[in-house]
Amino acid sequence: MLRIEGVSAAIAGVQVLRSVSLGLTSGKTTILIGRNGAGKTTTLRAIMGLLPVQGGSVRIDGEEIGTTPAYRRAAQGIGYAPEDRRLVPEFSVEDNILLPALALALPGPERKRRLDEVYALLPQLHTMRKRPGGGVSGGQGKMVALGRALMVARTALLLDEPFQGLAPALALEYARTLGELRRNRADLAILVTESTPALLNAIADETLQIERGEIS
Ligand SMILES: Nc1ncnc2c1ncn2[C@@H]1O[C@H](COP(=O)(O)OP(=O)(O)O)[C@@H](O)[C@H]1O
Ligand SMILES: [Mg+2]
Repeated sequence: MLRIEGVSAAIAGVQVLRSVSLGLTSGKTTILIGRNGAGKTTTLRAIMGLLPVQGGSVRIDGEEIGTTPAYRRAAQGIGYAPEDRRLVPEFSVEDNILLPALALALPGPERKRRLDEVYALLPQLHTMRKRPGGGVSGGQGKMVALGRALMVARTALLLDEPFQGLAPALALEYARTLGELRRNRADLAILVTESTPALLNAIADETLQIERGEIS
């Protein structure tokens, strides 16, 4: 349902994506494995329209969104948790989760419904909802970033190295949560990037490798 085809990108004159193609399917989890600098983050940013690409296409259900500005891709239901989680430190955890819903101007009842859904999946976020974004640990911040991305995700969920720096117990919990999403959210095509696939093999429907900007 989400398909990118032949997307290339250069940053500061250096080619970082070479004709990347990949397809994501609703209800399936795709893992994109590659070492540091391979182009994982750039691939996700290209899907989100956050960097200029040279040619190629990005389509949702066949409809080209490659020319849709980044701020409108959230409205297409693509949830994105960047590598650096960027919580607003002075906002509460709950307000951080709600932020994209406000940006999307979701009606109150829908906002509440999605927030309840996030809390049902990640009850630990409900427990810490009143804490300031600046007062949670790095690992907890990754959970908040997941919750925030889920407020938006109706078609696709893109997670950039969510396991990086997670303590083992949290990493297991995170993997379990991804497994639950895969089982219960047939509407969502999930893409997770990682440098090592260890925790993800059990929940991957498809595994792709990226090396020097090329997917094999
Ligand atoms: N802002 C930037 N300025 C210069 N080079 C960049 C920038 N962002 C990424 N790159 C380069 O693009 C390549 C791919 O980076 P990235 O997509 O971040 O890789 P990954 O996420 O797999 O670690 C790397 O060689 C990196 O050095
Ligand atoms: Mg990266």
